[in-house]
Amino acid sequence: MEITVSRKAHFNAAHRLYNKEWSEKKNSQVFGKCNYPNYHGHNYELIVSVKGKINPDTGYVIDMGELKNIIKNEIEERLDHKNLNLDVPYFSNVIPSAENISIFIYDILRNKISKALKLSVKLYETPRNFVEYSGN
Ligand code: NI
Repeated sequence: MEITVSRKAHFNAAHRLYNKEWSEKKNSQVFGKCNYPNYHGHNYELIVSVKGKINPDTGYVIDMGELKNIIKNEIEERLDHKNLNLDVPYFSNVIPSAENISIFIYDILRNKISKALKLSVKLYETPRNFVEYSGN
């Protein structure tokens, strides 16, 4: 039997969606407000879900304090109050869409959480728009 536990986290970050290969006009047509040259912020809500068997010694799938610290140290420290395009090297060549930010987060967390556990990240860019990534 496997069961899923989830931890919510939050960060604020600025970005600009921009494809260097395209003209200003095409960028504006495709990305709309998210293409504004001077960047804009989002209040990102992150939900990290871990699925696995319950450890009979603890009754836990994963120690939530440990998961909280991993998210804080590895994700919030890297992304909170940052300009994703300028401050996070990964996004110097990757468009910082919610899709790509989710993959960035997943890949970091995947290396920090036991491979015996399944991982999924859900990222809300707005209260109504969110992306989910579980690898592959
Ligand atoms: Ni945006």
